[in-house]
Amino acid sequence: TGYVTLDTGFVNTASCTSEITYIDGDAGILRYRGYPIEELAEKSSFLEVSYLLINGELPTPEQLTEFQDKITNHTLLHERFRSFFNGFPSSAHPMAVVSSAIGALSTYYPDSLDPFDPEQVDLASIRLLAKLPTIAAYAYKTSVGQPLLYPDNTLGYVENFLRMTFGLPTEKFEVDPEVAKVLDMLFILHADHEQNCSTSTVRLVGSSHANLYASVSAGVNALWGPLHGGANQAVLEMLEKIHADGGDVKAFVNKVKNKEDGVKLMGFGHRVYRNYDPRAAVVKKATRKVLDTMGVNDPMLDLAMQLEEVALTDDYFVQRKLYPNVDFYTGIIYKAMGFPVNAFTVLFALGRLPGWIAQWREMINDPATKIGRPRQIYVGSPERHYPA
Ligand code: CMC
Repeated sequence: TGYVTLDTGFVNTASCTSEITYIDGDAGILRYRGYPIEELAEKSSFLEVSYLLINGELPTPEQLTEFQDKITNHTLLHERFRSFFNGFPSSAHPMAVVSSAIGALSTYYPDSLDPFDPEQVDLASIRLLAKLPTIAAYAYKTSVGQPLLYPDNTLGYVENFLRMTFGLPTEKFEVDPEVAKVLDMLFILHADHEQNCSTSTVRLVGSSHANLYASVSAGVNALWGPLHGGANQAVLEMLEKIHADGGDVKAFVNKVKNKEDGVKLMGFGHRVYRNYDPRAAVVKKATRKVLDTMGVNDPMLDLAMQLEEVALTDDYFVQRKLYPNVDFYTGIIYKAMGFPVNAFTVLFALGRLPGWIAQWREMINDPATKIGRPRQIYVGSPERHYPA
């Protein structure tokens, strides 16, 4: 009742107060709990950042060891759960498999579903962080018809994920420390981004007091779309298409400017950043280095750099303040690491998980939280009567 404001896409509406992530979109600044993203990307580790996001402070060495040990102890999936993956066609998009698997975790763990029991919430948080790499690796393994590997708990978080993804039971898998380090860094860059579409989804679902597994599963589905996390897959598909069509970057940019068939420059633009996305700056710097260290020469990188150069000097993009976002260069790195294109958004989900967990916990503990329930402005038919 009363006065209702229309704000389609919530361009101008804050849904909560938050102490987790700070973005200054005009200045291109991103901080987790006050720490600049550039410093965390260079000096921290993904699990340390996860702890920071969830608990508000960096861990002491003892706290970090305890946190890592807890996660390591929960990496296994229930034996029966392993057969879950066989139920899907091998062509299944891994985001569908991953979101279903996360939702299904709640069926195995009724001991951690109460949003108001802090111990249960801790347990659900640890289980999600521990099991998502196993789930993601199994979604990939089933799609390529390879056997599922058990986690190796002597390995670190990212190393274990890489081994479960690319290893085979028939041979010893050597994790390339450079690859593990870069993937860890990419996970840090993705770990939180305040009230984006998937995080708002996680909070909204949780605001009805649905459990953490159910809320995170919904977040994965929100992330899947090409305007959000799915952009990393869309960027590589776009680059490959431009390449296949002869590599004419200017012609493609013209198509975008003329809004031909609604075609967009994927990996460009952002609701909040009206400046270079600070995450994209870190990724761009890393991309050339990673490809060189791995001995990969991918023409997609040159194409992406040309596209960026053309776009950043073009009026269309300048006037609209459209810059590369985090998704513009990541796909080129993931591809060099050996991930198939449709697994890219799963990697985004792995990185974003601690952010979803931290935001859900902040929401559930905030006394100001109410069930999320936007209003509408009705523009349909006035009252009419069913034919007699
Ligand atoms: N290519 C061409 N034009 C664009 C693009 C783009 N990538 N992004 C925005 N525009 C235009 C848009 O058409 C509009 O033009 P006009 O004023 O003539 O109608 C203007 O710029 C403002 O854009 P908007 O659509 O009102 O902006 P938004 O805040 O609603 O959308 C966005 C933000 C990220 C969805 C959009 O920029 C986009 O679709 N980008 C491509 C997809 C992408 O890379 N997504 C990843 C986002 S970052 C990571 C993540 O969140 O997952």
